[in-house]
This record gives sequence, structure tokens and C-alpha cells, in this order.
Amino acid sequence: MPRFPEDRITVVPSEPQYADEMTAHMARVYGMANGDFDQIFTAEMYRQHIAVFPEGQFTAFHGDQVVGVTSSMRIHFDPARPMIEPWWVTVGEGWLPHVPDGEWMYGVESNVHPDYQGQGVGGKLIEARFDTAKLLNLRGMVAGSTLKDYGLHAREVTPDVYVRGVVEGVYFDSNLSKQIIKGFHPIFGASIPNYVEEESSLGWGNVIVWRNPDYDPDLGALAAMPEDKRNRVYTRALRVRGDT
Ligand SMILES: CC(C)(COP(=O)(O)OP(=O)(O)OC[C@H]1O[C@@H](n2cnc3c(N)ncnc32)[C@H](O)[C@@H]1OP(=O)(O)O)[C@@H](O)C(=O)NCCC(=O)NCCS
Repeated sequence: MPRFPEDRITVVPSEPQYADEMTAHMARVYGMANGDFDQIFTAEMYRQHIAVFPEGQFTAFHGDQVVGVTSSMRIHFDPARPMIEPWWVTVGEGWLPHVPDGEWMYGVESNVHPDYQGQGVGGKLIEARFDTAKLLNLRGMVAGSTLKDYGLHAREVTPDVYVRGVVEGVYFDSNLSKQIIKGFHPIFGASIPNYVEEESSLGWGNVIVWRNPDYDPDLGALAAMPEDKRNRVYTRALRVRGDT
């Protein structure tokens, strides 16, 4: 009997017992399954994420298989001063410098199994985190976005021009465009060199922001979520590659 249904994708809050599968999954997404785990979250790191901020961690399953993982933390953030630094620095080399009373959520990482990309799994992981931000009355969510397909256009345009082109629909970026579809906005002029060690982006990222439309300034950010709101489950109809 599989842990989760096989006819759909199920997104649930991450649990410590999934941690070994989560790290193997992340290594696979980044093509590092052969023991080279540079900048891959270890199972200990994933358990730490769940311990410090359980509301921000989600895993997507297809039956028994982990097909997507997302990690988040809370931070203090001023949109006028976006963080221009390598991702591995921002995320405390994997251990997360989570600030319990931070008014913003920082999107640490999302990764979807290559066979399931473009099927709406990443979108569900984003929706789950937006809901967390709303339930905690956070100001919004900020992240660095890897400019995944910038390398294809680097001879023609600078990263800043590329980001504007993605917003205008001139280019489709397999990471940034999907985040824009879900409601994020890039901050113009906030491109980040050496953001990630990743070839197709030539290492470039850009700061992106989503503002919580329900944010109530009178209420202030909540310390924790009510217990009955924590175990939310999201599902997505399965549409594996090749299906019509
Ligand atoms: C980036 C990543 C997490 C996105 O996950 P994904 O499952 O491919 O994303 P989705 O298919 O859910 O796309 C997000 C949205 O864009 C839409 N979308 C996807 N491909 C699209 C396309 N070609 N044209 C138009 N819309 C598209 C989806 O429908 C979805 O919207 P919806 O939820 O309203 O349906 C995934 O591609 C990945 O793991 N990449 C490698 C690792 C990586 O670079 N991570 C990001 C580090 S910053």
C-alpha cells in the first residue's frame, strides 16, 4: 500500500522521517547523485529546517516517491536593500539563519524531479508557502531566483536586461517565468552574480518578491500557526509527460 495516492501529486508538510529521501531527491535534481553533495542539503539539515520552521517546509509525493521539496525560513527584510550575495551564504550554508520573529518568509529552495517539472508541482509548493505566509500574517515572501536559462542569451543581453525581457515575455525562463506566473515580481537592478554554482544560469540570480495581499499591519506577524492549520494537504491531478 503506497504512502500517498498514485493517481495524483500530494503535497504535505515535510516530516523528519522523509529527510533521507529529501536529500537523495535534491541531489538527483541537481545531477549530484554520485556522492558529490556540494551545496545539497543533508538529511540533518532538512531535519533542522523542520525543527526551526515546520510551517515553511513541504514535500510532494507521487505514491511512495518524493517528487518535490521546498524549504523556507523567516527573516527581517527591507525591499529597498535586497540581499546581493551567494545563495549558500544567505541560507547559512544549509543550516538556515531562521529568525523566529521575522516578518518575511525567505524561499530557501524548491526542487522538482526532472520527470515531473512543468506539471504544476512547483506551483503547488509555492501556493503552500504563500498560504503559510498568509496564516502567519507575514508581509510577504522574498527569494533569489536562479536565472536558469540566462546562459542561452548571455551573448545578447546583460542579466538586468534579461530579467526585464522575462517579465515582458520576450524570454521564457524555466525558473523565473514560473515564479512570475505564480505572483512573484523581480526587483529590477537586483541581479546577483555568483548566486549559485550552476552552469545554465552562468551563476546569475535575481531577487524576487511576493507581497501578501492579506497582510494586516495592525495584527503583526504571528509567532506560530494554529495547530489545526499546520497539516494542510495540497493535491494536483497527475499529468505525466507525454499525456494529452
Ligand atoms: C524551478 C522548479 C522548482 C519549478 O517547478 P515546476 O514543477 O517545474 O513548476 P510548475 O510546472 O509548477 O510551474 C509553475 C507555474 O508555471 C506554469 N508553467 C510551467 N511551465 C510553463 C510553460 N512552459 N508555459 C506556461 N506556464 C508554465 C505552471 O502551470 C505553474 O502554474 P500553475 O500552478 O498555476 O499551474 C523546477 O523546474 C526545478 O526543480 N528546477 C530545477 C531546480 C531549480 O532550479 N530550482 C530553483 C532554484 S531558485
